Amino acid sequence: MNVLVIGANGQIGRQVVGLLKESKNHTPRAMVRSEEQAGRFERDGVETIVADLEGSVEQLTRAMVGIDAVVFAAGSGGHTGPDKTLLIDLDGAVKSMEAAEKGGIGRFILISALQANHRENWNETIRPYYVAKHYADRALTESSLDYTIIRPGGLMNTPGTGRVTAAENLEGGSISREDVARTIVAALDEDKTIRRAFDLVAGDTSIAEALEKI
Ligand SMILES: NC(=O)c1ccc[n+]([C@@H]2O[C@H](COP(=O)([O-])OP(=O)(O)OC[C@H]3O[C@@H](n4cnc5c(N)ncnc54)[C@H](OP(=O)(O)O)[C@@H]3O)[C@@H](O)[C@H]2O)c1
Repeated sequence: MNVLVIGANGQIGRQVVGLLKESKNHTPRAMVRSEEQAGRFERDGVETIVADLEGSVEQLTRAMVGIDAVVFAAGSGGHTGPDKTLLIDLDGAVKSMEAAEKGGIGRFILISALQANHRENWNETIRPYYVAKHYADRALTESSLDYTIIRPGGLMNTPGTGRVTAAENLEGGSISREDVARTIVAALDEDKTIRRAFDLVAGDTSIAEALEKI
């Protein structure tokens, strides 16, 4: 599949692009915010498109021409305020879904966050973040897209183990960004993840087996 990675310059996004580039079945297109970022990917032989999630749905639709699947791994990050959380994690995600629908792209993988589906467990200090994740997830489940929503626990930069726990309702936990990236790419090849949402933390099961059982 030709896969558009939104948030390609991010910590998970970069790893997803690398894995897609190495894979036999997929080819990445990295969506980034600046020409400078694009140059870095292009020097590695990765196709790029410069676009901003604060732009229009039409711009995002153009970024998706020739694409079979979208991976949304963007996020406003902890250094910005709730305004950017709303604009990127919620509106940026929903505009990407609208663009995918307009472009006739079936497959859409969204990185959400553990507990986004349980309002009663939202951390008070980052409540707007959970609101954004929650309603982006809801918009995707109500779309016509062949979605997969992955809700990882706390993200770490430790090396991946290739072993995870994936289930509908986990209480807590953490996971390496590398294993999240591997899970995203594996989900593209596992049809059982279509129109499914699940939590993801470090565990004992191989990623392929965990997704097969989801
Ligand atoms: N931190 C956690 O413990 C945790 C837990 C669960 C889920 N998550 C979620 O996991 C996802 C990925 O995390 P990460 O650590 O890989 O994030 P990250 O390193 O902060 O990457 C986010 C990417 O989004 C891009 N972005 C921001 N605003 C944009 C815009 N207006 N247009 C286009 N791209 C934009 C950034 O671009 P630039 O590179 O140009 O800045 C960056 O490349 C996020 O959605 C996050 O909320 C995080």
